[in-house]
Amino acid sequence: MPSSRPRRAGPAVFDRGDVDLPGDSVRDPGHALFHERSMSRGIACASCHPEAHEDGHTWRFDKLGLRRTQTVAGGVLKTAPFHWSGDQSDLAHLMQEVFVSRMGGVRPLDREIELLARFLDSVPAFPASPPDDLAAVRRGEALFHDPQVGCATCHARPMLTNNRNEDVGFGEAFQVPSLIGVSARAPFMHDGCAKTLRDRFDPACGGDRHGDVSALAPAQLDDLVAYLESL
Ligand code: HEC
Ligand code: HEC
Repeated sequence: MPSSRPRRAGPAVFDRGDVDLPGDSVRDPGHALFHERSMSRGIACASCHPEAHEDGHTWRFDKLGLRRTQTVAGGVLKTAPFHWSGDQSDLAHLMQEVFVSRMGGVRPLDREIELLARFLDSVPAFPASPPDDLAAVRRGEALFHDPQVGCATCHARPMLTNNRNEDVGFGEAFQVPSLIGVSARAPFMHDGCAKTLRDRFDPACGGDRHGDVSALAPAQLDDLVAYLESL
């Protein structure tokens, strides 16, 4: 007996044959490795670093504690050593620790790591938004470079990091992060304690050992934030 229910139109079925595409493959093995899901854990680098940026999460690692995902865009290779503790001297060490040990992936060849490096280096930071108040940015820039305030001693050009570990008030030394594109990646600091750039100046979140800001008026902190937002 024919069914009275209407039949849904199914997807069109194509004959699966080989299709000749013109030219050589332009597959980028570095990009592919970054997006490869490890067999045992089912996650890829890109799961936590979408588009080679960051997922906005502060993860809790068993031995390390809280760790905000870092971005890998904007010239990360020039900021080695890696991770907030600065314990990963280069990308090969990081791949062994993260891809092999933590994610259960198969150890990549040196050539694949080179191509991964090439891919990561090709991803720019998000461009900063045009500033609302250019005069505030200029005042903030002057404060940032004022030796009394001291930001630029650690956040030194060209990458706005001196690539060293420094203790800014947590009782533990962390890698000085690059500030390029910083405003696009709240929350800030290794444990995500600063929900906004202004919160970075809260004594509970590093505070006075993190640049000498005790003598600055609230309006000057606003200027510093305007400058940070322009980077
Ligand atoms: C579970 C989420 C997660 C996965 C998966 C992941 N990362 Fe990360 N990534 C993080 C976190 C969190 C940090 C900061 C870790 C720390 O400081 O201990 C980080 C830091 C980094 C850094 C250091 C950036 C800097 O400025 O020092 C690089 C480079 C990096 N990841 C690359 C990768 C690569 C390549 C893969 C794949 C093999 C990967 N990550 C997989 C979350 C992840
Ligand atoms: C003694 C070295 C040092 C000085 C001086 C310094 N910083 Fe930092 N900065 C660090 C370190 C180390 C961290 C990471 C600390 C953490 O995550 O716990 C950091 C983190 C930051 C962050 C968060 C970045 C992110 O990716 O989450 C901002 C914003 C920042 N600093 C701005 C400044 C400003 C503005 C000044 C000047 C008032 C300054 N810093 C002075 C070492 C320094």
